[in-house]
Amino acid sequence: MYPVLGDNLARFPELLQVARDFAAREVAGLASRPVAYLGPPPMAEPLPSAGAGTEGALARFAERWAPGFSASAGPRYLGFVVGGATPAAVTGDWLASVYDQNVSGAGDSSAIDLERETLGWLRELLGLSDAHSGAFVTGATVSNAVGLAIAREWLGERLGVSVSDEGAAALGPIEILSGAPHSSIGKALSMLGIGRNRLRRVPLLPGGREAVDVTRLAAALDELDGRPAIVVANAGTVNTADFDDLRAIAALKRQYGFWLHVDAAFGGFAALSPPYAHLVDGLDAADSICLDVHKWLNVPYDAGVQFTRWQDLQVRVFHNASPYLGHPGDVPDFLHLTPENSRRLRALATWFTLTAYGRDGHREIVERNIALAGSLGEQISAVAHLRLLAPVRLNIVCFTLAGNPDEDRVRVAARAVAASGEAFVTPTVYEGQHALRAAFSNWRTSETDTDRVLDALVEATKP
Ligand SMILES: Cc1ncc(COP(=O)(O)O)c(C=O)c1O
Repeated sequence: MYPVLGDNLARFPELLQVARDFAAREVAGLASRPVAYLGPPPMAEPLPSAGAGTEGALARFAERWAPGFSASAGPRYLGFVVGGATPAAVTGDWLASVYDQNVSGAGDSSAIDLERETLGWLRELLGLSDAHSGAFVTGATVSNAVGLAIAREWLGERLGVSVSDEGAAALGPIEILSGAPHSSIGKALSMLGIGRNRLRRVPLLPGGREAVDVTRLAAALDELDGRPAIVVANAGTVNTADFDDLRAIAALKRQYGFWLHVDAAFGGFAALSPPYAHLVDGLDAADSICLDVHKWLNVPYDAGVQFTRWQDLQVRVFHNASPYLGHPGDVPDFLHLTPENSRRLRALATWFTLTAYGRDGHREIVERNIALAGSLGEQISAVAHLRLLAPVRLNIVCFTLAGNPDEDRVRVAARAVAASGEAFVTPTVYEGQHALRAAFSNWRTSETDTDRVLDALVEATKP
């Protein structure tokens, strides 16, 4: 064995302790370090010939790379929709590496059953019936792609074509309708050979809403004259966390018989909070559902989940049958259900956090985030040089600078906030206006953090 490797094998437990001590220091400093790093990356170095050992690697990482890492796991990083990582989730994630299970198939480990148990818990958390089965994937983009891949197979079945055998071209143009879909839906359509341009935008409700106008959706479905279609409903939009009326869309589904895919990447977690759970009423009627756990469940990247009522079609799309991998049976292995073949035990971090904090603990995180977003929204309304653009419906605050800011002014403002080291928010366009958004989804964020975020926003955007 290579000498450094032999030494590291002999001292593996000791090295884990060294890593633990380093990680503990990083975690302790998370809330006080700059939230974002805007400097240049370190100078590139050549591939080492001689190995430095784990301690040597850690020292070089600490010196060269760690200082430039953002505090995106910390409490004042409000960009995109970024969760942190709870202590239990980090523990589960570490152990996923330690055990290094390949949850592609059954036969040599109970790990696959842990993933199934975790999926069952998430199903219960969302209030789904057991008609839905699920699988872990890397995130919402892949979950959306998997859901739409199954939808594509379903369309083929309606039109007498096997898409998985003949290819997407055999289907001809596909009808796909949505109000305010996340950009990952377009990406999924591109990956699936359906094409981004097939996505037909249905008008939204008036008054700055990002929820689809269900009457207009019904009219668009009428125009299809019975041609099979996919409807993508949105449960939590990135600008204003708006929700389509899933119950009304489910009623349309009974009438028109389309495939209903719901992107509930972060909005699905509204189910945890009784005052907000009605936002996901009707979710169970979906044919496929996207949920991200690296967002509001606060497990480390990367982890998302997809659910579907159509596991048989899912197997048709994703099966990877061979003599050495086995064939999908009545309870298909995950390798027959997801784009990946070899798979990390992503479920372990989710299992740990759900076990450690339960439904009640995660409900508290969601409700605290919602309350803090509401309070930041109120305080922004009172700042003369800022303008709240939409009511805070859930956990996202969408605002802009007073006047009519162009893209440059908004980008400069976002950069100034990041440069303060105190907070991080991301630019967007909402209703044609250049804007900023602050998304609350981190388990650590407190009222004090929110005050610091407000101070940083006010200071960095001063005219
Ligand atoms: C509603 C929604 N769908 C999909 C995504 C894509 O998620 P991911 O980055 O995990 O692929 C996001 C990310 O913010 C989202 O908010």
